Amino acid sequence: MARENDADWHAKKGENQMKKILDIITDEMKKAFAANGYDENFAKVTLSNRPDLCEYQCNGAMAAAKTYKKKPIDIANGVVEQLKDSEVFEEVNAVMPGFINLKVDASFLSDYMNGMKDAKKLGMDEVENPETIIIDYGGANVAKPLHVGHLRSAVIGEALKRMGRFVGHKVIGDVHLGDWGLQMGLIIEQLRLDKPDLVYFDSSFEGEYPAESPFTLDELEQIYPKASARSKEDEEFLAKAQDTTLKLQNGDKAYTAIWKHIMALSKADLKKNYDNLDVSFDIWKGESDAQPFIGPMIKDFEDRGIAHESNGALVVDVSEETDKKEMPPCIVRKSDGAALYATSDLATIIDREQTYHPEEYIYVADKRQELHFTQVFRTAKKAGLVSEDKSLRFLGFGTMNGKDGKPFKTRAGGVMRLEYLIEDIKNAVADKMKENNSLPENEINGIAEIVGLAALKYGDLSNQATRDYIFDVDRFTSFEGNTGPYILYTIVRIKSILNRFAEEGGNLEAGTILDPVNDSQKNLMLQLTGFGATVENAFEEKAPHKICAYIYEVSNAFNSFYHETKILSEENEAQKASFIQLLKLTKKVLETCIDLLGFSAPDRM
Ligand code: ARG
Repeated sequence: MARENDADWHAKKGENQMKKILDIITDEMKKAFAANGYDENFAKVTLSNRPDLCEYQCNGAMAAAKTYKKKPIDIANGVVEQLKDSEVFEEVNAVMPGFINLKVDASFLSDYMNGMKDAKKLGMDEVENPETIIIDYGGANVAKPLHVGHLRSAVIGEALKRMGRFVGHKVIGDVHLGDWGLQMGLIIEQLRLDKPDLVYFDSSFEGEYPAESPFTLDELEQIYPKASARSKEDEEFLAKAQDTTLKLQNGDKAYTAIWKHIMALSKADLKKNYDNLDVSFDIWKGESDAQPFIGPMIKDFEDRGIAHESNGALVVDVSEETDKKEMPPCIVRKSDGAALYATSDLATIIDREQTYHPEEYIYVADKRQELHFTQVFRTAKKAGLVSEDKSLRFLGFGTMNGKDGKPFKTRAGGVMRLEYLIEDIKNAVADKMKENNSLPENEINGIAEIVGLAALKYGDLSNQATRDYIFDVDRFTSFEGNTGPYILYTIVRIKSILNRFAEEGGNLEAGTILDPVNDSQKNLMLQLTGFGATVENAFEEKAPHKICAYIYEVSNAFNSFYHETKILSEENEAQKASFIQLLKLTKKVLETCIDLLGFSAPDRM
């Protein structure tokens, strides 16, 4: 059935926004409730929990029955009567005791598909009031190896950044490096032992320190573990390193010169690692950038009585009456005068307020840091560093465990370095590809890299962030089931059909999407309608796993459709063109989603 394009739910070609399908359905339902004299708030519609019977359902008649002292089934029947001529529904049934079961009209659905296909951002609503949001993620520690502990922060934060931008916010990603801690003093002290003749250790030296680094990246990578091991056995060495760290933080010239070399080498290496993960940051600041704000902040806290002395340390009370657990005070200065992790996070807020004026902060870090962030957020509000209503949000993630259920380690028992992890997963994918198909040997490596990254990221993101999960290379790299490679495989399948169609002389731009020819096609269409609502909601809840769950459903729906429908051998040209357009739409939805998650699909696999 063809229809005029002027219905109010219809997206005009090229227009940005489309009404969400659930809102359209709910509005129809509201009209029907109102027409019978019932409050339209009863007209709530949800996805059906009996997909065998219907697609959507409304249970409002049951609730309305109490208010209007009628039988639910009578109310339901009356509402159904009103919907007889609705263009939105193909079938509306009242069933005992008073459910209203809904099936969406086929031409309504195909119109909606054509609307999505032509709309900007697939018809998703952009936020009305874009906000500036700082996402603090990555959080690598300079001169220490980037290990799997930092993987989750990078992967989750990157997805949130992309999602936030897509829904229309201005999002600033800051890597917030750990570049100002004890590791610096340890490295400097180890260097003093290994290379005592360096000018940095000559107290009579007054010239310019050399522009060239006294160590290579490889050497630097050796120095830290050595120093760290020594500090565990040698108390004197540890004390020296602590003292040196403090001196560096107070601007010691020689140590600052060494620190700059450490920073330059390490940052370049980190960039390379993040690039490999397809993770990028707008700002490469770190704890060291907070240093200038610390002194004045502490003085201000003291002057205004925000902080007080306690056992020689300076602390801010942050407990609240409603706390169920004990909330220790936030220590902002140790008894030896040193600043702490919290001090640096507070001073960083001052910097961010002045420089970026964000409306919202999101910190992506290990959930074991929750107490720290609660203390920091409360202190920031108590001291008025941010307004009372500012959204300071901690997104704590769980641990990545090995198959033994314990935090992931290498076979030798050490913390696995990210590079090796990526390499392992890529090799696992390459092996599978060699077994599975006949791709030329020289292409396998490049493709395995793309697929491996998807396996890794999807394996992580498909879990609710707060949960621990088991890193299982075999499962993550499987081409079947709820995995990254399965999603990519679906996209590649679509690409290859489209390619074949074009090779056979088909015009990829021609045709419109017609009414579904079978249930599996209708189901695919229904799934596709969920795109905008899913992305909006996933960002709202800071939950990339909801996008994963969605694309898994879409992929399943597509593959069922593919198995049940002859696409390229369809003889009716208009029908074939309709399938092709639906394939293109499906591909666009899937590709947009995986881009939000931070990975991409190859052309073949
Ligand atoms: N460098 C920290 C770590 O390795 C993570 C930093 C998280 N961000 C923050 N603003 N504290 O644990």
